[in-house]
Amino acid sequence: MTAPVLVLFAHPALERSRIQRRLLEAIEDCPGVTVHDLYEAYPDFDVDARREQELLAAHGTIVMQHPLFWYSAPALVKQWLDLVLEHGWAYGTGGTALAGRTLLAAVSAGGREPAYRAEGLNGRSVRDFLAPLEQTARLCGMDWLAPFVVHGTHALEPSAIERAAAEYRRVVEALRDGRIDRAAARAAPYLNADLGAVLGG
Ligand SMILES: Cc1cc2nc3c(=O)[nH]c(=O)nc-3n(C[C@H](O)[C@H](O)[C@H](O)COP(=O)(O)O)c2cc1C
Repeated sequence: MTAPVLVLFAHPALERSRIQRRLLEAIEDCPGVTVHDLYEAYPDFDVDARREQELLAAHGTIVMQHPLFWYSAPALVKQWLDLVLEHGWAYGTGGTALAGRTLLAAVSAGGREPAYRAEGLNGRSVRDFLAPLEQTARLCGMDWLAPFVVHGTHALEPSAIERAAAEYRRVVEALRDGRIDRAAARAAPYLNADLGAVLGG
């Protein structure tokens, strides 16, 4: 089953971005994919909850794309969550608007992958740090997939950035076309740890 994809993009300094900008360029011309730049739309954090709810309702898969900031997201993402996911709409009595939709986080992290292991500097995986968003998805009845993660951004060679961008496009297109192995995508540590398993080769 095909389902249009909404990419909620958040980067407060896009002009200085190396990674997120490239990921965004890789998917912005995909048919069936709507890119919504939150910092461009809401530079004053004045999020229009109705407009956002209408956008969400029109898409089957939501991708939250942003750099990892302090083991979390840039501040506007939190503001967006606080204002848009209203009781009685997203959760709680009568709050079923998002039920059955899919949520994927697509993040980049300065830290390399070994730093995000139990014995590493940060002690936990990026997937673990995204637990509040994962539980938010569950509370809203959404299907939460393992995150797409680009690690070690500060030292990433241009060829590695291009590879990550191409993989990201494959993932977004597969989500749109319903070509994803959901069991594998839920269970993976990161979606792009073994794309073959998730996308079926
Ligand atoms: C305010 C701020 C907080 C950050 N916090 C983290 C962090 O907690 N973990 C991490 O691995 N990288 C962290 N970084 C690094 C960014 O995630 C990294 O620079 C970004 O993903 C690179 O993407 P870009 O080239 O699109 O900006 C932080 C960067 C900034 C500016």
